[in-house]
Amino acid sequence: MLTAVIAAAGSGERLGAGGPKAFVPLAGRPMIEWSLDAFAGCESVAAIVVAVPPSLADASSPRLPDVRQVGPGDGVTTLVAGGATRAQSVSNALAEVETELVAIHDAARPLVTSELIEALVADLEANPDVAAVIAAAPVTDTVKRAAPKSSGIFDRAGRQNLHLVEETVDRSVLWAAQTPQVFRTAALRAALEVDEATRDAATDEAMLVETAGGTVLLREVTEPNLKVTTPEDLKVAELLLSERAY
Ligand code: CTP
Ligand code: MG
Repeated sequence: MLTAVIAAAGSGERLGAGGPKAFVPLAGRPMIEWSLDAFAGCESVAAIVVAVPPSLADASSPRLPDVRQVGPGDGVTTLVAGGATRAQSVSNALAEVETELVAIHDAARPLVTSELIEALVADLEANPDVAAVIAAAPVTDTVKRAAPKSSGIFDRAGRQNLHLVEETVDRSVLWAAQTPQVFRTAALRAALEVDEATRDAATDEAMLVETAGGTVLLREVTEPNLKVTTPEDLKVAELLLSERAY
């Protein structure tokens, strides 16, 4: 069985909605509820742990949408206080996990589906030697490697916006990692046993598992699974969710 850990403790600065991003209204409901629904709709999900901003972790908080009622029917959705970094939020939630498998997911990816989650779980179960299976999309832009940003050239407006191209990278082997990422819980816990700076510098959990020597598979995602970062992303997500047939 699987526990879903949902990272929802970010402040959403780039979205600039005036409140935590995971609770911003999106197609008629708080953003996090779309992810909660997707996990709650999975046979394999036994529990959901949500890392929320510390001010919302108190069950009596009036600003808290009732996430407990969106989770699986037996009421096993729990809230934990998130930390200063995403990695800390995930670690806090992982402390509550009791199942052999765990899915880490960002509330900022509200387009996730039950089908994708179940596929990742089935992939991991079918590959006993693998530590994790993650959602990923092929990179579609032509990718350039450039000199470090700090050595950028000033443009006419006085901004350091010009960067020297060093090479064009072969994009046919490049993938953009997303969430959900499904792990053997023991492998993820072991991979997180690194110093805080290394843990916080990791931009996803799979990276830490890779560093620890674990085998990671990626599953190609064909449906949109965008990450809501800016107000423009929110508009696109709103359009895609409102067009979904239920
Ligand atoms: N997150 C978290 N705890 C943190 C920081 C981020 O749980 N201390 C979560 C966010 O809630 C989000 C996911 O990690 O679901 C990805 O982070 P990001 O998209 O950067 O969200 P924010 O940090 O909220 O946005 P911003 O960086 O613009 O402030
Ligand atoms: Mg952030």
